Amino acid sequence: AKKFTVSSFQKAKKDGNKISMLTAYDYSTAKLLDEAGVDSLLVGDSLGMVMLGYENTLQVTIEDMIHHCRAVSRGVKRAMVIGDMPFLSYHVTVEDSVRNAGRLIQEGGAHAVKLEGGSDVIDQVRAIVRAQIPVIGHLGLTPQSINVFGGFKVQGKSEEAARKIIEDAMLLQDAGVFAIVLECVPEKLAKLISEKLDIPTIGIGAGKYCDGQVLVTQDMLGMYTDFTPKFVKKYANLNEEIISATKAYINEMKECAFPSKEHTFHIDDEVIEKLY
Ligand code: KIV
Ligand code: NA
Repeated sequence: AKKFTVSSFQKAKKDGNKISMLTAYDYSTAKLLDEAGVDSLLVGDSLGMVMLGYENTLQVTIEDMIHHCRAVSRGVKRAMVIGDMPFLSYHVTVEDSVRNAGRLIQEGGAHAVKLEGGSDVIDQVRAIVRAQIPVIGHLGLTPQSINVFGGFKVQGKSEEAARKIIEDAMLLQDAGVFAIVLECVPEKLAKLISEKLDIPTIGIGAGKYCDGQVLVTQDMLGMYTDFTPKFVKKYANLNEEIISATKAYINEMKECAFPSKEHTFHIDDEVIEKLY
């Protein structure tokens, strides 16, 4: 199938086709999601919680991100792979930010990067775009700001807060990002922003009017239950599947019902007799 590229994002918005995005952190899952036809795979820093068991995304390093990007890239034929820039990888200097974004491409095999924030990070965005690296913005609830927000809550409900998100979205578009993730903002604000922008918006907890949607795959598949936000829909209950399959395996092996003949290697009786 034809690869989903930056121009596919623009074309999808123009044609009114929704863009699908899911997170992926490993080879075998990426391969399945790509086969299922997802347009883009985000190697999100949510891997801190989902894959590594951290409490939030703040402990994830650029090395972690590169490691998981490499695994995902190897599993994909069609989907665009987006590497999430972790906390502190684009906050120190512009030079540092370009180098870290570049590492996700050069070492991680990603096709694009994503970073959180608007006016605060605009110089970094411009410099990364100038280095020919496609960038996705991320506004609204930006989890790397958890300690500033003081919790995970809906953003942009007041006129002032909403205005700031709109301004940041326009600023990011002018700086050359090719899409913007809107996380946890009211549906009508996301609709307004999606109408104002020429580039597509990808929503998570931002209602149905965004130009695309993203979910954390383990949330969508029902295999991560530490915390389930309101905006998650479970399309499967792999939790139950995994637990019942594991119980079946344990029972069968204890009762010697597994391994049976079909899963076992054989040697001629003549040979084995000589060895006794
Ligand atoms: O890290 C992540 O998974 C994300 C998405 C939820 C947008 O940033
Ligand atoms: Na993220």
